[in-house]
Amino acid sequence: MLDTATNRPELPPEIARRRTFAIISHPDAGKTTLTEKFLLYGGAIQMAGQVRAKGEARRTRSDFMQMEKDRGISVSASAMSFDYNNFRFNLVDTPGHSDFSEDTYRTLTAVDAAVMVIDGAKGVESQTQKLFEVCRLRDLPILTFCNKMDRESRDVFEIIDEIQENLAIDVTPASWPIGVGRDFVGCYDILRDRLELMDRADRNKVAESIEINGLDDPKLAEHVPAHLLEQLQEELEMARELLPPLDPQALLDGTLTPIWFGSAINSFGVKELMDGIGNYGPEPQIQSAQPREISPEETKVSGFVFKVQANMDPKHRDRVAFVRMASGHFKRGMKLTHVRSKKPMAISNPVLFLASDRELAEEAWAGDIIGIPNHGQLRIGDTLTEGEALRVKGIPSFAPELLQGVRAGDPMKAKHLEKALMQFAEEGAAKVFKPSIGSGFIVGVVGQLQFEVLASRIEMEYGLPVRFEQSQFTSARWVSGDKQAVDKFINANKQHISHDHDGDVVYLTRLQWDIDRVERDYPDVRLTATKEMM
Ligand code: G4P
Repeated sequence: MLDTATNRPELPPEIARRRTFAIISHPDAGKTTLTEKFLLYGGAIQMAGQVRAKGEARRTRSDFMQMEKDRGISVSASAMSFDYNNFRFNLVDTPGHSDFSEDTYRTLTAVDAAVMVIDGAKGVESQTQKLFEVCRLRDLPILTFCNKMDRESRDVFEIIDEIQENLAIDVTPASWPIGVGRDFVGCYDILRDRLELMDRADRNKVAESIEINGLDDPKLAEHVPAHLLEQLQEELEMARELLPPLDPQALLDGTLTPIWFGSAINSFGVKELMDGIGNYGPEPQIQSAQPREISPEETKVSGFVFKVQANMDPKHRDRVAFVRMASGHFKRGMKLTHVRSKKPMAISNPVLFLASDRELAEEAWAGDIIGIPNHGQLRIGDTLTEGEALRVKGIPSFAPELLQGVRAGDPMKAKHLEKALMQFAEEGAAKVFKPSIGSGFIVGVVGQLQFEVLASRIEMEYGLPVRFEQSQFTSARWVSGDKQAVDKFINANKQHISHDHDGDVVYLTRLQWDIDRVERDYPDVRLTATKEMM
């Protein structure tokens, strides 16, 4: 049957009830707290305070290593599934630190929507803006939660204006705060005409919710002090005049974001946001792929790897590939084709990530995220199907912004180092280049912290102390183009040429001038700063 709104086939109910999303925010805005409350209402945890993997941004290196030690937990935190009302929520964690932006980008290829959390006192901050732009590249629908309304916050119109101006997206209020800071009493739920009152005494208590019959309902005055009520009526009237109403299609197109006001720590506004994700958030979407796109309702199963996490248990060199199911109804034990190698893979131990546990996934539907333990066959960007040679598109690899040479402390262990580096490259934790002249490797990352994390992980997981050292190179570009021209270019520029872990040719540069020179002297050679991982 066709859905009249979208003119697409109606999804099977199991797929239609799935909501797969990520939370984006600037560090400290309250992502961890909000996640915790989601899990609490999803019945996934019993008590708030159990989500131990806190926002990476505030972590020092030692905190990060500790987290690596607690990997079981941090991994389950990278994808979490729970039920809420009739919905199945799949929440995919985005690393908070800007050093991990590539990982974040890939994570956002696996979701259908994003929840943007902003701090009511701070508005749109730098990291919010960056992450928002990544969502924009994919036209992801965004739902906004303005947090910390229990504290002094900015004027609501000012916050909304800032989002509209800085992020170039229309904003529609889904709720409206009543009072500011210490006077904050709760919100008026615009979508359902209800009054939600915050209980400051009990942080885990769900707000009292009172049905209201329009803004003239005398019930309002029973609960809201007169001066605040007057202000609320004025502001709502103004909001109705100045701001667009909630247009579900504009939300799905990514041109309009509804905003809820609340306080995650006080459990306030969280349920309304969850209801919003369920009622207005997108169902599992079509994935672009080659040679055709994949629709979620297709009966054949397909999925793609957007993240690989290795050495979760250092005693066994296992890895878990995080797979977003793109179509069909997967059942444990199914044989799927690994499209890149054309080999069949029996998926016998897929994992589902619940809040603090992993458990065997007996089944999964389009929209779900499952983990597949493997020995390295599965790489980021890989597609799994029931046989058809489909490849999901759009999972990019970015040119690193920092390059360093790396050596094993013990030169006899060079082979071990190569193995470790290749593994991290496949995991997507770093770029590894083998220069065509000389020995050793060049490692490329996006942020300095990644070098430190890598050095510690190589030592911890492979027992191999390593040294990072300065490199003459500062950036890297993938080389493509007419074969003859590329060969000629490689021969004449050997000192700049290297290969990445896939064997693709990479030109290492010292200055922008190097790139300009190539563009001038080799018009048939193309240098690119991104490559698709497929
Ligand atoms: P993040 O993951 O986005 O980095 O933020 P996180 O949830 O860790 O929250 C950052 C800080 O803001 C925490 O305080 C948290 O308790 C606080 N917070 C979260 N939601 C609210 C809210 O609605 N109102 C108020 N007033 N504060 C909120 P912290 O002192 O840094 O950490 P903690 O000691 O509370 O754990």
